[in-house]
Amino acid sequence: MGEQRVAIITGAARGIGRAIAQALSRQGAATVIADIDDEGARRVAREIEESGGRALAIPVDVSVPAQVAEMVREAADKLGRIDILVNNAGILSATSIEALREDEWDRVMAINVKSAVFASQQALPWMIRQGWGRIISISSLSGRMGGVSAGCAYSTSKAALIGLTMSLARQTADKGITVNAVAPGTTRSDIIRGFNAEQMERIMRSIPVGRLGEPEEIAALVAFLAQDTAGFITGAVIDINGGMFMG
Ligand SMILES: NC(=O)c1ccc[n+]([C@@H]2O[C@H](COP(=O)([O-])OP(=O)(O)OC[C@H]3O[C@@H](n4cnc5c(N)ncnc54)[C@H](O)[C@@H]3O)[C@@H](O)[C@H]2O)c1
Repeated sequence: MGEQRVAIITGAARGIGRAIAQALSRQGAATVIADIDDEGARRVAREIEESGGRALAIPVDVSVPAQVAEMVREAADKLGRIDILVNNAGILSATSIEALREDEWDRVMAINVKSAVFASQQALPWMIRQGWGRIISISSLSGRMGGVSAGCAYSTSKAALIGLTMSLARQTADKGITVNAVAPGTTRSDIIRGFNAEQMERIMRSIPVGRLGEPEEIAALVAFLAQDTAGFITGAVIDINGGMFMG
């Protein structure tokens, strides 16, 4: 590889996104730690720099397309190119259909789906120009089989990411770009604090391997998809869930 690859990871201030940024950094990429949590993003960028990597923190609310455009512009200005985009930022909603309100629906769709659409729109021209690119979106088991404890807005948003993945994969397959989705089952991170004890118990009972996933396990899969050797995988949804869903 010639120049260092540049990876943007949204929602990388903690949890799965942080682990993905660390894994891509170990794989040689310069990383953009993009998150609404500015302080957390700077902390992760510092961690990566301290372990010998190159990282840039960019504050962004991914639900606002203008901020997403600015994020990609700043990353390209400062690091010179965009090779890998990981659409990871997301929020959980465990609200039932009966209790769901329009503002919650709009927020979940804006943060979980609209973000990925417009980030991809902004990053793709760079990848097309370079003749190489990777877009990886973090979907969910909930988008594959309906959530065990997650609500319908969340499941819908994660299924929508799969549609987006297949659509973009078809449009870019002949351009050296792959577009894939990773669908984790319940993984140890702050997001699952949104489940109450009874919901967690229901989840734990439904995991055949008998434990939660670890952020590093999701990150290893994403890092693999970002490699040259994964160039024949596109438009795929890869399940990683301890056997909760076997499709
Ligand atoms: N943990 C799980 O069990 C699990 C399972 C399946 C899918 N996922 C998905 O994995 C992704 C990462 O989740 P996590 O478990 O690490 O959760 P997390 O809550 O620990 O991390 C989410 C990150 O996204 C950031 N974020 C939230 N809203 C944002 C916004 N508007 N703009 C920019 N950044 C924003 C947060 O600040 C945080 O750093 C999410 O898309 C989530 O839906 C998680």
